[in-house]
Formats: sequence, C-alpha cells, structure tokens
Amino acid sequence: MIRIFSILLALLLCGGWAASAAMGPQKVARTVHNLSTSSEWMYKADNEDEICIFCHTPHGGSLNGPLWNRALPGAMEFTHYTTATLDSVAGGANRALSDESLLCMSCHDGAMAVNHVLNPSNRTGVQPTMMGGQDVAIVAIWGIGGRIGDVVDELNFPQGETRNLTDDHPISFSFDAVRTAYQGAGRGNQLHSAADAIAAGVRFYSGGNRVECGSCHDPHVNYDSTIPMGDPTADEDYRPFLITPNIGSALCLACHNK
Ligand code: HEC
Ligand code: HEC
Ligand code: HEC
Ligand code: HEC
Repeated sequence: MIRIFSILLALLLCGGWAASAAMGPQKVARTVHNLSTSSEWMYKADNEDEICIFCHTPHGGSLNGPLWNRALPGAMEFTHYTTATLDSVAGGANRALSDESLLCMSCHDGAMAVNHVLNPSNRTGVQPTMMGGQDVAIVAIWGIGGRIGDVVDELNFPQGETRNLTDDHPISFSFDAVRTAYQGAGRGNQLHSAADAIAAGVRFYSGGNRVECGSCHDPHVNYDSTIPMGDPTADEDYRPFLITPNIGSALCLACHNK
C-alpha cells in the first residue's frame, strides 16, 4: 500500500518521469552530490547553501529533466560501448545520448563546471564558485587513472578523451527492442521481462523502456555511513548511488538471466 502510494506520488511529482520500486534511504545532503557550503565532502561551494539548486530550480530551469537547473552537453558528443553481440547498436554506436543520461553527464563528462547553474539563487544572485573562487570539473567515470574526482583544468582538459562511453555499460537504448531481438535470435531467456526487472528494483524510461544511468543509479540515495562520525540512516549497500543493492550481483541479475 505504501509502495503504491509512493509510486503515485512520484508520478504526481514528476509527470512522465520514471517511477520505480522501493529505493534506498533518501538524503542527498549527506552525499557527494551535496555541493553546497554544508557539504562534508571536498567539492563544495564558497557561496551557496542551497543543496538542490546545483541540479534543480523551482523556476527558470530547463524541461530536459525534473525542474533541471543545468545546461546539458550535446547529445551526439558521446561514443557508446559496442560489440558484435550487442543489439542496441541498431541505434548506432554514435546514437544520441538521451536527456535522462545527459543530466548526469552535465557533471560527469569531465569538462563542464559542476558549479554552474542556469538560475542562481535569488539570495546570492551570482553563480556559485568552489574552492576559493574556482570553477570545478570532475574527472568522469572512465577518468584518467580511473579515479573520478580529481580537479581538472576545464579549458585544457582533452574533450576527445572525456566523452567516451565505450568502456561503460550500454545506455540510451530500448530494453524492449533488445529483448525482442534476443527472442528472435532464440536467446530470449537471457533477459528478464521489463516488469520482472522493475520488480527486482531497477527502473526504465518511457519510450520502449529505455535503459539510462538512472536505471542503475539514484542520485539522492544516502549510502555513506562514514561521515562525519557515521550516519545510522545511511545504507552502505547502495554505494555508489545505486538504485538497488548489487549484493551477489543482484542489480545485474535484475535484467540479465545469467
Ligand atoms: C547532483 C544532482 C542532484 C541534486 C543535488 C538533487 N537532485 Fe533531485 N534529481 C536529480 C536527477 C538526475 C533526477 C532525475 C532522476 C531520474 O532519472 O529519475 C532527480 C529527480 C528528482 C525528483 C523527481 C523524482 C525522482 O526522484 O526521480 C525530485 C522530486 C527531486 N529530484 C528532488 C530533489 C530535491 C528536493 C533535492 C534537494 C534536497 C534534490 N533533488 C537534489 C539530481 C539531483
Ligand atoms: C536495466 C537492465 C540492466 C541492468 C541492471 C544491467 N544490464 Fe547489462 N545489459 C542490459 C541489456 C538490455 C543489454 C544488451 C544491450 C544490447 O544487446 O544491445 C546489456 C548488455 C550488457 C553486456 C554486454 C553484452 C554484449 O553482448 O557485449 C554486459 C557484459 C552486461 N550487460 C553486464 C551487466 C552487468 C555486469 C550488470 C551489473 C553491474 C548489468 N549488465 C546490469 C540490461 C541491463
Ligand atoms: C551537479 C553535478 C552532478 C550531477 C548532475 C551528477 N553528479 Fe554524480 N557526482 C558529482 C560529484 C561532484 C561527485 C563526487 C566526485 C568525487 O568526489 O570524486 C559525484 C560522484 C558520483 C558517483 C560516485 C560516488 C562515490 O561514492 O564514489 C556516482 C556513482 C555518481 N556521481 C552518479 C551520478 C549519476 C548517475 C548522476 C545522474 C543521475 C549524477 N551522478 C549526476 C556531481 C554530479
Ligand atoms: C547497468 C547498470 C549501470 C548503468 C546503466 C550505469 N551505471 Fe554507473 N555504476 C553501476 C555500478 C554497479 C557501479 C558500482 C561499480 C562498483 O562498485 O565496482 C557504478 C559506478 C559508477 C560510478 C563510480 C565510479 C566507478 O567507475 O566505479 C560513477 C561515477 C557512475 N557509475 C556513473 C554513471 C553514469 C554517469 C551513468 C550513465 C552514463 C552510469 N553510471 C550508468 C551501474 C551502472
């Protein structure tokens, strides 16, 4: 009953946005996604105490995401993972990234300043800055040395190396279309149905049940129990920002029948 109610509430809050089964404990303030002055982490603003504003704004945002407060990188600027056995390549290795994933890539592309917003808060009236007046970009998922988080020089960071998704799980494709292709090729049993996958905790996006970053990740989930003296409401099983725990590869097995 509670779950049905929260799904209805989620639909109400976000229109056509993806709904999902039960997610982990919510509290973005305790995570590295808190970029405000109250953050307990390295990348924090000098001059902005609002937490949501780095991603959302009540007014004057863009409709690319839920009340979205950031400019997005170009949808065609990314290169996807591709192999001969992959069916999402029907859309092409150079297919456009969908908006839902571009939301993440507006910070995780290793190039765009994480502190820039479309609509700064009324109280400050200026763009947030970080680390004493700087603009900060984070090294992306596939970042140099494999570690996200190093401060990079926005202007000199080689773009060609940053917008490369070829070593990352495929995204921006229709799960339904791939499953149909698998069934046609006699290996339909290798993927669960979308309904079963949702029941197992992942989420899809409208338009043939698309797989995006948010299929596996929840940007608000409170997974860090180490700060500053441990947070009893955090759940380490959701590290890092997982939509559902991956214990025993449960997240992978939500979709794959392997
Ligand atoms: C680091 C970026 C970031 C921050 C900070 C952030 N959000 Fe979000 N939020 C997102 C993204 C990305 C989505 C879309 C998730 C998806 O794909 O469904 C989202 C979705 C939402 C939704 C739509 C329902 C849902 O969960 O999908 C609500 C409501 C929301 N956020 C509220 C907040 C509030 C309130 C705050 C501040 C306390 C906040 N967010 C802080 C990135 C952020
Ligand atoms: C939301 C559903 C979903 C989740 C969760 C998911 N996958 Fe996938 N994955 C797919 C689909 C669908 C494909 C096939 C795409 C295609 O064929 O075009 C795929 C493709 C792959 C491939 C590439 C297969 C090939 O032919 O090259 C691998 C490997 C893989 N997934 C592993 C994983 C692992 C490991 C996890 C857990 C960390 C995971 N997947 C989680 C849906 C998912
Ligand atoms: C406003 C900027 C911003 C947006 C938008 C954003 N992130 Fe992040 N993300 C960060 C920062 C900053 C870090 C911390 C980097 C570090 O400390 O190394 C981070 C870290 C992470 C981590 C690693 C956490 C860990 O503990 O290692 C994951 C996973 C992640 N983000 C996923 C996402 C996903 C998925 C989305 C979209 C749904 C998203 N992020 C959107 C700024 C952002
Ligand atoms: C199929 C599921 C899946 C998809 C889709 C996915 N991720 Fe992840 N991601 C994971 C898992 C699982 C981990 C944790 C890996 C680990 O613990 O070794 C992870 C880890 C990360 C990390 C931490 C650094 C690292 O490499 O371990 C970042 C940042 C991140 N993801 C961002 C993203 C962004 C941005 C997108 C979309 C472009 C995305 N992820 C799409 C499953 C996924």
